[in-house]
Amino acid sequence: MVVSTVVKEIGQLADYRLYGRVAGVLGMLVEVAGLEQALSIGSRCAIHAQGNRLEGHRRVICEVIGFRQRRALLLPFGSLEGVGLGCKAEVLESEPLVRPSSAWLGRVVNALGEPIDGKGPLPDGPAAYSLRASPPPAHSRKRLGGKIDLGVRAINTFLSCCRGQRMGIFAGSGVGKSVLLSMLARYAEADVNVIGLIGERGREVQEWLEDDLGPEGLARSVVVVATSDEPPLMRRQAAYLTMALSEYFRDEGQDILCLMDSVTRFAMAMREIGLSAGEPPASKGYPPSVFAELPRLLERAGPGIEDGSVTGLFTVLVEGDDHNEPIADAVRGILDGHIVLERAVAERNRYPAINLLRSVSRTMPDCNSDGENALVDRARNLLSTFENMAELIRIGAYKQGSDPAVDEAIHYNDALEAFLGQKKEEISHLAEGYSQLAALLGMDDPVAEAPAAEAAPDAAPQAAGAPEDIQVEGLAAAQTAMPEGGLAPAQTSPQGHQPAEGDFKKRRDRMAAALNLAQAKTAAPGT
Ligand SMILES: Nc1ncnc2c1ncn2[C@@H]1O[C@H](COP(=O)(O)OP(=O)(O)OP(=O)(O)O)[C@@H](O)[C@H]1O
Ligand SMILES: [Mg+2]
Repeated sequence: MVVSTVVKEIGQLADYRLYGRVAGVLGMLVEVAGLEQALSIGSRCAIHAQGNRLEGHRRVICEVIGFRQRRALLLPFGSLEGVGLGCKAEVLESEPLVRPSSAWLGRVVNALGEPIDGKGPLPDGPAAYSLRASPPPAHSRKRLGGKIDLGVRAINTFLSCCRGQRMGIFAGSGVGKSVLLSMLARYAEADVNVIGLIGERGREVQEWLEDDLGPEGLARSVVVVATSDEPPLMRRQAAYLTMALSEYFRDEGQDILCLMDSVTRFAMAMREIGLSAGEPPASKGYPPSVFAELPRLLERAGPGIEDGSVTGLFTVLVEGDDHNEPIADAVRGILDGHIVLERAVAERNRYPAINLLRSVSRTMPDCNSDGENALVDRARNLLSTFENMAELIRIGAYKQGSDPAVDEAIHYNDALEAFLGQKKEEISHLAEGYSQLAALLGMDDPVAEAPAAEAAPDAAPQAAGAPEDIQVEGLAAAQTAMPEGGLAPAQTSPQGHQPAEGDFKKRRDRMAAALNLAQAKTAAPGT
């Protein structure tokens, strides 16, 4: 394998060098004359720039993005300082490759695969991986694996995700995408994380790495960084490198969690590149090439041909909180589900600010047992009923007792909100989430509890990594916390349709106690 790769690469080396000349520079766009027969889209050139006295001559690596009037149009990977008319442009032969190895774990690299964490050079691996690889052929790809424990309660229970699935996290700015990604990177059950930070503010990268990801998260991750001040080619390439590194670890038979923050910044980099090449803007200034490139990038995540999978979670920054803007729309259509974070939820200080009613995992309900689906359906119905009446309830226009379904939704709402919230330092395992949800709903509604209790023994083998004892313990917790005979549903309370406030408080306290009990079991060593 190694020898054949080296032989192939030697075979590709030319025994001569081709040069052209810089014939024009406009903004970041460089026009090169004399090489139109030798270059094609994606080819690379090194422009010999005039350096200063300290640096000497610089080579600026550029990529061909188009042709106009027999001249090649190139964009640089670095600064164009020192590039002028007549500078030599040397054709570089090889396609962009990277040679990762397992020694890259715990390291931070730039879009060119060079270390930027000051921890010394990175050893090359034996095999070269193309940055622009195609996704595996659809017919030979394995199917999605079992459920993956992502460590975030709301996603585990309501938006179950399977190995090799690709999900989008859609949110406006500052709604909690990066914090959610750091929780996934630390808590998800994956062999390796490959994290692409694309177009982030430079100041935030270090803070995110040190405070949010932390040393234990970094130890099993490779992080690719291209900050917002870097040229568009670097930002675009950071996304390609993130996928190439995921493919390397997947080929090693490992289960990868590929996290990218954000796909929108990748699309913006593509927009800058496309517009520089003279492409016409189509939708919101994005040229057509952006919409062609998005599926090619995102399809690279997923199951492989052999063992190993890349589960992808990609953030999408929705500009102006408009979830129908073109990039969000295109990405939603490509991926296998979307997690919507909403500003209104964050404003009530519930993080992760997921609006479950607008979020979907396309592997559900098939990946769940009947019992799990029954729980999720019940909770979703309660949340949806509350949401429909939320305005009226908040301004006090809803009169308790008018509709038993709404009374019930109001009754459960605080507990469900508490269930969906999760501190960033807190981990929640897949099986425990269902146990806690069963405890919450089972306490107050025996009709909801019955199918969960019946389904629990069946559900355990289907839920990946769901040890039977945790499920049973969770239910036991619910039963212990319940008063004799269980709690009466809101509409059949002794006060008819008007449960006394004290009653609500007691119920809420008991639910919180059940939740804490189940959480305490979660935190206990060995579970
Ligand atoms: N789980 C959480 N617990 C507590 N606070 C949180 C949580 N998640 C997010 N926040 C709060 O929300 C703020 C913004 O979060 P974050 O930086 O993740 O947003 P973002 O969507 O990545 O923003 P940007 O679009 O600017 O990149 C954080 O500084 C923090 O105060
Ligand atoms: Mg962010």
